[in-house]
Amino acid sequence: MKMKAGGYQLKPALLILILNLCFYASYQLTELQICKLCTGTVLNNTEVGQFCSSSAGRIEGRCCLRNDNTSDPEHIIGLDLSNCSLTHVDDLQEASTAVMIDLSLNSIVNISDLVFQGFIELHYVILPADIVCPGGNTSWEKEDVKKGNRFCEGQKNMCNQTGQLSINCPENSLCGPYGPGFFECSCADNYRGYKCLREGEFPFLQVFGPLGASTVVISVLLWVTQRRKVKPL
Ligand SMILES: *[C@@H]1O[C@H](CO)[C@@H](O)[C@H](O)[C@H]1NC(C)=O
Ligand SMILES: *[C@@H]1O[C@H](CO)[C@@H](O)[C@H](O)[C@H]1NC(C)=O
Ligand SMILES: *[C@@H]1O[C@H](CO)[C@@H](O)[C@H](O)[C@H]1NC(C)=O
Ligand SMILES: *[C@@H]1O[C@H](CO)[C@@H](O)[C@H](O)[C@H]1NC(C)=O
Repeated sequence: MKMKAGGYQLKPALLILILNLCFYASYQLTELQICKLCTGTVLNNTEVGQFCSSSAGRIEGRCCLRNDNTSDPEHIIGLDLSNCSLTHVDDLQEASTAVMIDLSLNSIVNISDLVFQGFIELHYVILPADIVCPGGNTSWEKEDVKKGNRFCEGQKNMCNQTGQLSINCPENSLCGPYGPGFFECSCADNYRGYKCLREGEFPFLQVFGPLGASTVVISVLLWVTQRRKVKPL
């Protein structure tokens, strides 16, 4: 009887271990997929390679990864999918934190602006010369064509375009960047609902305020439901 009881006692620990392993494995898998989309690794003498070493990043496959502090998971800051026989690009979401993306030396015909929606950190993109910069050339500080590649540098903040009338967040909301050519309107404090017309505190924030991580998730979910994404023009 005692041994059986012992066996039962082991189970929760094992279960947690297995769950942890599964979580770890799936986390690693999803994290790595885009980095393994193409063969080879980021080379030292490439734009992404140089950027990675100057940013103290770690190269894994075609990605440059870094964590900003020890509690944060590593995230992609550079992605080099150049010379990879890509004919279309429709999902780069895993790399939405990237600062630099290289898609040169591929026979891509066009790329939807939507691919880069939400890429607020993106500062530098390299494309085949005949592909326009994401969001068009008004979304970038600088645009260059050299040696068959197009370089898009310095993502502009769509909320801060002098002379553009189109940016009209509803009253009681704030404009924020949301990737090249995109901006988002999020309700100002104390406002919520469609067009941020309703006034009132978020009860959830008050109730869950001191609970830590789960609060953040709830707040973010709430916040996501409160905002609208708008593309100008
Ligand atoms: C690339 O740089 C890393 C770190 O500086 C170095 O360890 C590695 O040997 C270099 N690889 C090549 C091919 O130069
Ligand atoms: C592109 O990849 C091919 C085959 O993997 C290689 O032979 C070629 O040198 C690469 N080109 C460049 C510019 O890296
Ligand atoms: C943007 O593109 C348009 C059309 O291709 C061109 O006429 C214009 O000069 C470009 N503007 C800049 C700043 O490169
Ligand atoms: C808006 O753009 C101007 C000129 O490009 C810049 O000097 C200013 O700091 C920007 N403001 C914000 C809030 O980004």
